[in-house]
Amino acid sequence: MKILIKNGRIIDPSRDIDGIGEVFIENGKIKEVKIQSAKLRTQNSKLRTQNSELKIIDASGCIVIPGLVDMHTHLREPGFEYKETIKTGTKAAARGGFTAVCCMPNTNPVNDTIAVTEFIIKKALQEGSCTVFPIGAITKSQKSEELAELEALKRSGCVAFSDDGRPVTNSLIMRHALEYSKIFDVPIISHCEDLYLSEGGVMNEGFVSTILGLRGIPKAAEEIMVARDLALCQLTGGKLHIAHVSTKGSVDLIRQAKERGINVTAETCPHYFSLTDESLVSYDTNFKVNPPVRTEKDVEAIKQGLKDGTIDVIATDHAPHHIDDKNKEFDTAAFGISGLETAFALGLQLVGKGILDLKQFIAKMTITPSKILNIPKGSLSSGSDADIAIINPESTTIVDPSRFLSKGKNSPFNGWTLKGSVEKTISMGKVYDWT
Ligand code: DOR
Ligand code: ZN
Repeated sequence: MKILIKNGRIIDPSRDIDGIGEVFIENGKIKEVKIQSAKLRTQNSKLRTQNSELKIIDASGCIVIPGLVDMHTHLREPGFEYKETIKTGTKAAARGGFTAVCCMPNTNPVNDTIAVTEFIIKKALQEGSCTVFPIGAITKSQKSEELAELEALKRSGCVAFSDDGRPVTNSLIMRHALEYSKIFDVPIISHCEDLYLSEGGVMNEGFVSTILGLRGIPKAAEEIMVARDLALCQLTGGKLHIAHVSTKGSVDLIRQAKERGINVTAETCPHYFSLTDESLVSYDTNFKVNPPVRTEKDVEAIKQGLKDGTIDVIATDHAPHHIDDKNKEFDTAAFGISGLETAFALGLQLVGKGILDLKQFIAKMTITPSKILNIPKGSLSSGSDADIAIINPESTTIVDPSRFLSKGKNSPFNGWTLKGSVEKTISMGKVYDWT
């Protein structure tokens, strides 16, 4: 099977490419990317159009980019199939322009064994619409009592370790995990939360939580753990990645650590640069997420951190929940946002506002996470898997969670008008047409 994508603006930050051109795909791999002058383009297209075994995709007016890579997704399987499955979660990913997702281990059972890792990989190969890379637990059952068998997990296909959903409360265990991360060259992804400080909290602690009468989670609950893990990273020389950065204080700590040469990377998610705690005046539980959305000052700091490179990656933290887990009083509703199908368009707003240029933005959703995880994705270089997103950057859509392909309809962006629609996703050469 051969595919030719023509007339699109090809942007591949992995090779600093930005220009109108053509992408040739053969047998699920990228054969060639050609950026051409206008004259050559007409001649070549005519020639190739005559070749009948070729599927031609006209990407006029669109950007053609490497398939997006999400290094922080919750697929919920095994154990919580009523919230999401590998099948529905990867379909939602493809719908959002993603061709690779890394799934967090807070399933049931937890992904702390070879059996669970192999199950996920097998299921994804059978039923998935994109590539799935499992993330193994740092500690057995995510209990912070005993390290999981990291080496075996790595050998069976885990690309990182995390107890996401929970912090590693035991600093000695975290130290050991970081020591192993250095040996295995696999990142430790830290969910930074001091559970004593956050206990009972449901939103950001501050003026708005006081007015609403809801228990707050102070910014320090995150920042204390960021500071601890940076200290442990310095101590061990390990490979640390900070998940879902939500506060200005965390951005400042990570920036200083990078200046001191500490081996740390960081991600944030679209909700942390798109929302503030003021949105919670609606008491809509779709805004309930952990860590919570913060204040304008934090939003500005996160944008600045993305701009100056302190924050390397935009991940989704796609956390789908069943309506019954959200349709509750605020205190008892589940934390999490279904994010795969809105992430790219929300991120694109940063480009619209002049905070990032298109290439910087796309890098944060493609090659940079791939490099952190050491996975062969996020690039249009010859020989790579044919993983591509074709996006119309001018077309607008109104977010309608009832039409999400994810089982999780829990989006705080319901009704938002967003610019930038994913028209097609090509995953390992398979074309999904969303138009
Ligand atoms: O909001 C969240 N939801 N934060 C987490 O850390 C976990 C996630 C989930 O698994 O639902
Ligand atoms: Zn998460």
